[in-house]
Amino acid sequence: MADKLEKPQQITFDVTDRCQLRCVTCSKWKTVASDVISKELTTEEWKKVLDDLRNWLGEGFWFCFSGGEPFLRQDIFELAEYANSLGINVASMSNAFSIQHLYEKIIDSPIKSLNISLNAINNPIIHDESRGRQGSYEKAIDAIMTLKKLRDEKHKDLGINIATIVFPENVEEVIPLVEFVTKNKINGIMFQLLDDKESFHGYNYQRGCNTAGYKMPKELKVKYSNMAKRMIEVADRLIEMKKAGHSIYNSYEQLEAMKVFFNNPDDILKEIICDVGSTNYAIDPYGDVRLCFNMEPVGNIKESKPEEIWVNENSEKCRIRTKTCKMYCRMLNCNFKHNFANFNKSFMHKVKNKIIKILTGKA
Ligand SMILES: C[S@@+](CC[C@H](N)C(=O)[O-])C[C@H]1O[C@@H](n2cnc3c(N)ncnc32)[C@H](O)[C@@H]1O
Ligand code: SF4
Ligand code: SF4
Repeated sequence: MADKLEKPQQITFDVTDRCQLRCVTCSKWKTVASDVISKELTTEEWKKVLDDLRNWLGEGFWFCFSGGEPFLRQDIFELAEYANSLGINVASMSNAFSIQHLYEKIIDSPIKSLNISLNAINNPIIHDESRGRQGSYEKAIDAIMTLKKLRDEKHKDLGINIATIVFPENVEEVIPLVEFVTKNKINGIMFQLLDDKESFHGYNYQRGCNTAGYKMPKELKVKYSNMAKRMIEVADRLIEMKKAGHSIYNSYEQLEAMKVFFNNPDDILKEIICDVGSTNYAIDPYGDVRLCFNMEPVGNIKESKPEEIWVNENSEKCRIRTKTCKMYCRMLNCNFKHNFANFNKSFMHKVKNKIIKILTGKA
C-alpha cells in the first residue's frame, strides 16, 4: 500500500449474533441460539482480547459492543468493567428490547455511550414494523427517557444517543426525530442509510460475500428511487439543522454524500474508495476478525495476536479487495467517516447540477 498503515480506529466487538427482534432490514436474528452459544468467545477469552488490544493500542481507545443484541450476554457489564480498568473506553449499541431490568446497572457501569436504535418518533407502527416485534417502540422510548432521567439524577455522564436507519416508510420521521432529540436534551442522533439486509448477516451462517461481483437487488433499487427526491430535501434540511446547533452526528460531508447517493448510487462507487481496510477492526462472536464486515475473516483472535492479524497476508489481500468493491456500505456510519479525503470538491460541483435536475423533475 502506498500510504503508511496506521493502527485501527473503529473497533467493534460483535459479542453475539443472537437477537430477540426480527428486523426486516437485518438477518442476524436467523441465528439459532443453541447452534452458537457454545461457540461464542467466553468471558475470559474476551478479557484476553482486551488485554492484547491494550498492549497494542495503549490506553484511551474506544470500542463498541454490538451484535446481535449485546445485552443478551450476561457478562457485558463484567467486560465493560474490565475494559475500564485497563483505561479503555466502552460504547454499546442496543435495540433496548430487554434492558428494562438493567437501567440502574447501565447507569452505574463504565459504559460511556449507549446508542439506542429508533426508526420513528411520531408513528410507533413504523418502528415496530421495521423491528418485526410489537412493543419495541414503547421499550426503546422508555429506555431513552428513563436512562436519561436516571443519568441526570445521579449526575453520571453516560451519553445517550439515537441510531436511525432511513428507509422509504420513515423519511417523514427524520426531522421530527431530530426535534425530539433537541427538545428532550438527548445527546445526539445519527442517521444510517438503509443497506442491503444481506450485509447484516449472522457470522455463524455466512462468513463473507462476493463484494466485487455485487449487484444491488431490484427491490432495494426501487426503495432508494422511491425515497430519492424527498431524501435529498431532507438531507438539505439536516445540514441546516446541524448548522443551527441540533446534535446530528453525521458529518456535513456524509449528509452531502447522501444527496449524491440518492441522485445516483453509482456515483458513490466511482468517487469514494472504501477505506475500511485501514481503519476498521471488527471481532465477531467466535473470535474471527474482519476489516470489512462483508468479507471473509482475516484471522482469528484465539490463534494470533491482534497486531499480527492487522498486518498479515489476509489483511493485505483484503485491503486490495476493498479497492475494487462494488458495494454501497461505504456510506454506513462505521465505514464512511474516514472516506471523505477521497471525495473531492470537483466531484461535488459536478453532481450539484444533477441534483438540481432531480429536484425539478428534469433528471
Ligand atoms: C446490527 S445492529 C446491532 C445492535 C442492536 N441489535 C441494534 O439493533 O441496535 C446495529 C445497527 O445496525 C442497524 N441496521 C440494521 N439493519 C440495517 C440495514 N439494512 N442498513 C443499515 N443499518 C442497519 C440497526 O438499526 C442498528 O442501529
Ligand atoms: S438490527 Fe439489531 S435488533 Fe434488529 S435484528 Fe439486527 S441485530 Fe437484532
Ligand atoms: S463498501 Fe467497504 S465495507 Fe462495504 S463491502 Fe465494500 S469494502 Fe466492505
